[in-house]
Formats: sequence, structure tokens, C-alpha cells
Amino acid sequence: MPFIRAFSKVAKQALLSPGCGCQPITVAVRTISFSPRQVTSDASFHSVSFSETDHPKVLITGGLGQLGVGLATMLRKRFGNNNVILSDIRKPPSHIFHSGPFIYSDILDYKNLREIVVNNRITWLVHYSALLSAVGESNVALARDVNITGLHNVLDIAAEHGLRLFVPSTIGAFGPTSPRNPTPDLCVQRPRTIYGVSKVHAELMGEYYHHRYGLDFRCLRYPGIISADSQPGGGTTDYAVAIFHDAVKTGKFECNLKPDTRLPMMYIDDCLRATVEMMEAPADTLSMRTYNINAMSFSPEELAQEVQKQLPDLEVTYDIDQVRQAIADSWPMNFDDSNARNDWGWNTTTTSRSSSRPCSTTSAQTRASQRLTEGKEVA
Ligand SMILES: NC(=O)c1ccc[n+]([C@@H]2O[C@H](COP(=O)([O-])OP(=O)(O)OC[C@H]3O[C@@H](n4cnc5c(N)ncnc54)[C@H](O)[C@@H]3O)[C@@H](O)[C@H]2O)c1
Repeated sequence: MPFIRAFSKVAKQALLSPGCGCQPITVAVRTISFSPRQVTSDASFHSVSFSETDHPKVLITGGLGQLGVGLATMLRKRFGNNNVILSDIRKPPSHIFHSGPFIYSDILDYKNLREIVVNNRITWLVHYSALLSAVGESNVALARDVNITGLHNVLDIAAEHGLRLFVPSTIGAFGPTSPRNPTPDLCVQRPRTIYGVSKVHAELMGEYYHHRYGLDFRCLRYPGIISADSQPGGGTTDYAVAIFHDAVKTGKFECNLKPDTRLPMMYIDDCLRATVEMMEAPADTLSMRTYNINAMSFSPEELAQEVQKQLPDLEVTYDIDQVRQAIADSWPMNFDDSNARNDWGWNTTTTSRSSSRPCSTTSAQTRASQRLTEGKEVA
């Protein structure tokens, strides 16, 4: 069947790879050490606005996680190496440090963040810093700080300096009372994790700042992301990355979710492409500011079967993590991303699109074939 063939290609690839019409009236401005206040939008201290004819100058926060380095690589090819700055609170490995601009930035340090934006004349801010679902549940106070207070810092700085701001949301922004198959853009959102609560908060605050202050806020709800070159950061979908690494390294994989747990997933290249396309979409094409994006949906046992087609000796066992399982059971099984496709042309170029079946992209298939000739670089 076509979707099975496409799903196999993704498995192979991972194995073989290394606003509304309101006019903005005021802009929220937080001066250092003071509470937020409001000034008119033509206040003279504003930095130079982003001009569509210039390359954007991009800052990525939390850039050393699963997604940031790949996004930086893609954006640097497009806009030039020096126009994309990675930042994080961790020390970068040598090859990342030498591959382009890197800067220390703690998103909880408002003054530092503002200084970076001003000194580097940043025009796009991609806000990747976060504590993910499983890690967040193990340290709720820190997750609240990083995911909510950090977001407030980013929102104020983005509004003050006229930035285009991208903040990713997640399947985790939905909860047990949301429709699960498929989950539409607009429905009940009552998540039961601090991660999910913080992401709904981010969606709503971003949209509020857009309507209230004209902030160019853009948000995609990512499915679980599969990558080979970068490790996941403590989310409920981590198993779908770990299986590839463990299969190559040890030939054994212990899964912490039940075999039939179906969740939306996406290959990293498609996630990053969607992010760039959404950031470049003309504002008048966006009828909303937060969109679902979909690619495929599968369960651990289906993924294991696909990996076993490449590595028949792989042994898969199950030891259920009750916290992760409870989270997964409350999440969407499949996303309805029709608004993204209709508004700004999101397209996974699927060989088969069915509400509960895996599918993939032809571009991913092409890259998979290329990588087949490059050798195994997963582990
Ligand atoms: N990876 C996925 O499957 C997935 C799915 C849906 C949404 N997302 C979202 O995409 C974004 C990036 O995800 P990821 O997988 O790369 O996350 P990750 O956990 O791998 O990386 C997050 C990064 O944030 C950094 N960080 C933590 N505290 C910080 C602070 N105080 N200041 C600055 N940086 C800090 C960490 O050091 C880490 O490098 C997140 O917002 C996440 O919620 C990811």
C-alpha cells in the first residue's frame, strides 16, 4: 500500500542519516527593572523595522536542542551564515560553535536578551527554548519559569522591537476533552501537563499581542519530531527517535509507550521546511496565527515493524512509563491541518493522505535515496 511504502522510506531515512483587522495602537514595552508599560507605536527608540527586501537577521533561542541546529543550518543557507545566531544556556559542541554565530542567552534574563536583539539588529526571533512534556512534569516550577516567564520576556522584546516572532506549539496543547482523530485547529484545549498548559498560554498570549499590539506572531503546532542527527529533549514522543539509535547501536529497544499508542509524527526536514514557509508567508495569507501541521501518524508497534524490515534482528520489548503513557493517551492521534494547506500552502506532498495512516513526502524520499548511498551515520 502506498502509505506503507512512504512510511518505510521515513524509517530508512532516519536509519541511514547522520491578525484580525485591528490596527496596532500601542506597543508593550518593558524597561529594564520596571513593570511593563505602554508607549505609542512610533516611539523614536524603536529599532529599525524589518524590511522585506533585506535578509532577516535571525535569533534562535534554545538552539542546541533537537531542532535548533537543523533550523540554523537551513536558514544560514538561505540568508547567509552571519545572519542566523544560535543561542542557548548550554556549551555548544565544537563543530556547532565553529559552524556559525553562537551566543549565550538565558531567556529568563530579560536584559541580556534585549541586548542581543538590539546589538545584532535582530528581525526574526525563533523561540525554541522550552522544557518538554516529560521533563516538565518532573520539574514543574522550572517548566513554569522557562515556558511561561521566558515566553513573556520574548513577547515583550519582540513587540518592542518590531520582530517577527515564531513560537512552536505542540500536540501537547490538547487534552483528553479535545477531539483526537483528527484534531482541528479550533477546539477545546484543556491539557493536563505543565508543558501543554504553557503552550496553550503561548498560543493565546501570542495571538493577544498580535491583535492588541500588531506583533507579527506566528505559531505552528508540531507533531512529534523524528531526527537522526540530533537527540530529543525529554518529550513523550522521544521513543520514535530512540528506536533508531538503539536499533543501530545495540540491536535492542525497550519502548516506554504501549504498542498501540498512535500519535502524530513528522520528519525533521518537513518540520523545519514548514517553519521557514510559515515565517515567509505573506501576512495577508494568514487567517489565523496558530496552525496544526500534519505528516503521518503511527504506533510503536508499526514503527518497530518498519525498522525490523531494515534490521530484522532488532528485539523490541515494552516497559510502560505510566506518566508518559497517560500524557500520550490524552493527546491527538492525528492532526487536521487543512487550514495550513489552504492559507499558506503547507503541503507534505503526500503519496497517500488518510486520517489515521502514515504518509510522507516525496522530497524526503529523494533525500532518503541520496542518503542510502552515503552510509549509516545514525549512532
Ligand atoms: N522536538 C519535538 O518533537 C517537538 C514537538 C512539538 C513542539 N516542539 C517545540 O519545539 C521547540 C524546540 O524543541 P526541541 O525538541 O529542540 O527542544 P529541546 O528540549 O531539545 O531543546 C530545548 C533547548 O532549550 C534550552 N533551554 C532550557 N532552558 C533555557 C533557558 N532558560 N534559556 C535558554 N535556553 C534554555 C535547552 O538547553 C535546550 O537546548 C520547543 O519549544 C518544543 O516545545 C518540539
